Amino acid sequence: MSIQQDKIQELVDRRAVAKLGGGQKRIDAQHQKGKLTARERLSKLLDPGSFEEFDMFVQHRCTNFGMEASHPDGDGVVTGQGTVDGRPVFVFAQDFTVNGGSLSKTMSEKICKVMDMAVRVGAPVIGLNDSGGARIQEGIDALAGYGEIFERNILASGVVPQISGIFGPCAGGAVYSPALTDFTLMVQNTSYMFLTGPAVVKSVTGEDVDQESLGGASVHASKSGVAHFSAPTEEEGIETIKKLLSFLPQNNTETAPERPTADPVGRTDDALNDIVPDSPNKAYDMYGVIRSIVDDGEFFEVHKDFAKNIIVGFAHMGGKSVGIVANQPGVLAGVLDINASRKGARFVRFCDAFNIPLVTLVDVPGFLPGTQQEYGAIITNGAKLLFAYGEATVPKVTVTLRKSYGGAHIVMSCKQLRGDVNYAWPTSEIAVMGADGAVGVLYGKELKAETDPAKRAEISEARKQEYNELFCNPYQAAQKGYIEDVIEPRNTRFRVIRALAFLEGKRQEIPAKKHDNLPL
Ligand code: HXC
Repeated sequence: MSIQQDKIQELVDRRAVAKLGGGQKRIDAQHQKGKLTARERLSKLLDPGSFEEFDMFVQHRCTNFGMEASHPDGDGVVTGQGTVDGRPVFVFAQDFTVNGGSLSKTMSEKICKVMDMAVRVGAPVIGLNDSGGARIQEGIDALAGYGEIFERNILASGVVPQISGIFGPCAGGAVYSPALTDFTLMVQNTSYMFLTGPAVVKSVTGEDVDQESLGGASVHASKSGVAHFSAPTEEEGIETIKKLLSFLPQNNTETAPERPTADPVGRTDDALNDIVPDSPNKAYDMYGVIRSIVDDGEFFEVHKDFAKNIIVGFAHMGGKSVGIVANQPGVLAGVLDINASRKGARFVRFCDAFNIPLVTLVDVPGFLPGTQQEYGAIITNGAKLLFAYGEATVPKVTVTLRKSYGGAHIVMSCKQLRGDVNYAWPTSEIAVMGADGAVGVLYGKELKAETDPAKRAEISEARKQEYNELFCNPYQAAQKGYIEDVIEPRNTRFRVIRALAFLEGKRQEIPAKKHDNLPL
């Protein structure tokens, strides 16, 4: 062998060693836990042959606690660039086989390098987390590493989409990197996120709780809302990330890719004319409305199991990516509460940051009353959704299906929050409040003075009817130009798509400022 061939062989051998991370025994242990390795995850995420790895030979520089004896190539993270469905992304996948994926200073440098490149070229960052947290042997250097990553998460926010997959432990301050990104996906039963683990919880509060009930996927996908998605397996989690990417642009200066469809733009749906029940207190299936109006009936839901009284997610309409926000009359009558407001606001802000038009379907009776909500700051939290819609400059098309009462009417992308095109179905009731509440306030004294219950009921009914005729319809709003038109429900798909088409060139500014002061 020539010297040159020797050197090439050395490179091949070095690569083979580096690819083994912490070694075959630890890879086997990872598999035994039902988990894939960092490299296996990346090979499922990225298009075949597209992965360009960086920093494969980087080693940690720690000499404490015997660390100088072992220097696995690449340290505990695999980083680089590749494509998903032909579109560039930057990736990092923590390698649990190397010191439990714990974060060293050199690991953070590798992660920061791909984040910096992603921002420079304008491509999404996908981080797959599986780590024991700060590398204890490195002390403050590991904390500094986290700080560097967090700062980049913050600076990249609103510039390129950032997606976090949680595929193993993610504990302590490490949870804040995913929390700073746009979307977090957790894998059921093998991943968890918490600030302090069960042992610390027990010693501080006396509470007995296991990892899953403290910070498993089901907890964060349904109770806290920390996770936007939860997947039964790693493979399904990776597919969800890929699907999510298909609705997103590469960065904040681009629009999302178009998806051609055979679904006619002018398709009407007679079933929508009958979907709203005669009784205003009866629920109906908002998912049915969404599927009816979007391309091919395909709706990609975000935060599916959290705050189900509001529905948010992506779809295509006329081949274009849109963000759908809809009240869900089937859950808590579609009322806005703290969690629904937070969920809606976050989604609206994401869509606005990344040029994805908003389609809002309204059927909302108001904000949820009560001490629990008031003590939890429904005022501040409700204001988040209000703020998000009001500041959004992407095309905003709103359709009111039924109720749109009071403050909630304003919040849900009304005309005065710079809604571009606001339509209403003939069944809509755009008013300060429903008839029951209004009659109670306006005629309370008169009704109380009437001692005959039958007569009282008769008066009350007559007043409600009067109120309903005057206010519980779309025409008051239409007469004043607060909505553009009252539309037949069956035509909703093409009316919305037509509105989105002429809004495509929309230009709207917000006053120059350092940044806004969103109510937090
Ligand atoms: C150094 C670590 C490590 C860490 C795990 N390892 N976590 N090494 N620093 N933080 C090593 C283990 O010593 C072990 O090495 C290997 O990784 C695999 O770990 P195991 O414990 O054998 O695996 P498992 O039983 O699956 O348990 C995983 C674990 C546990 C639950 C993550 O390792 C654990 O509790 N680790 C500590 C978690 C922690 O407290 N981290 C600090 C959080 S505070 P060997 O050589 O034996 O295989 C934090 C602050 C961040 O992160 C602040 C940001 C601002």
